[in-house]
Amino acid sequence: MRKQVIAGNWKMNKTHTEAESFINEVKGKVPSKESVESVVCAPFPFLQKLVEETKDSDVEIGAQNMYFEENGAFTGEVSPVMLKELGVTYVVLGHSERRDVFGETDETVNKKVHAAFDHDLTPIVCVGESLEQRESDETMNHIESQITKAVEGLTDDQVKQLIIAYEPIWAIGTGRTASSEQANEVCTHIRKVVGKLSGDEAAEAVRIQYGGSVKPANVDELLSQSDIDGALVGGASLEADSFLKLVEAGK
Ligand code: G3P
Repeated sequence: MRKQVIAGNWKMNKTHTEAESFINEVKGKVPSKESVESVVCAPFPFLQKLVEETKDSDVEIGAQNMYFEENGAFTGEVSPVMLKELGVTYVVLGHSERRDVFGETDETVNKKVHAAFDHDLTPIVCVGESLEQRESDETMNHIESQITKAVEGLTDDQVKQLIIAYEPIWAIGTGRTASSEQANEVCTHIRKVVGKLSGDEAAEAVRIQYGGSVKPANVDELLSQSDIDGALVGGASLEADSFLKLVEAGK
């Protein structure tokens, strides 16, 4: 039985004060870690404070990106060592906004996934097709290629611990959610691809989130699908009330 993992991705939003008041509002109210993993992926400047505030709670803190080297002349980058030292436990990698706006490639995503495992951070690896790819029937091939490259060189045990977020680009921030059947169809395909690459046990264990206009009104339906094990949520994770409803749904 896979545990659901609900992660809020705040993207580049909130002030320090807003971040603090959000976390104080939710930290005593999220369900226990044993029933669902509740994760807040916040901008770098808030991470230290959020980790401190959530130390004895059931909320975990994640970063939204990192570089794959441990240190060095990489101006503006943040390393896995730094995140680990802060007490961050998850890291979102290869989000479509990173790929489209900042030129991330499958190769850099793969290096980052390795770096995350090397430093005991749980990677949430994002994959997803554009509208054009969906309309030209390339979704499944594209997803297979993204997954294959992301997990290259990982051990089967590492793949078991991976979280994959399926986020169709056309559904991100658009209010246009993939239907639960559409979302599950791709998540089932992802599980098959993982099975082909890393064996049945890894396919059974890997957790696959759906992301793209998830909100309290549609989360139950999405999470009830056979191959969806959680959600990666942007807009609807910004308000404490809404985040709490989402994590409740994951129980
Ligand atoms: O990573 C979450 C994401 O890209 C989806 O954003 O605002 O459509 O929930 P949103």
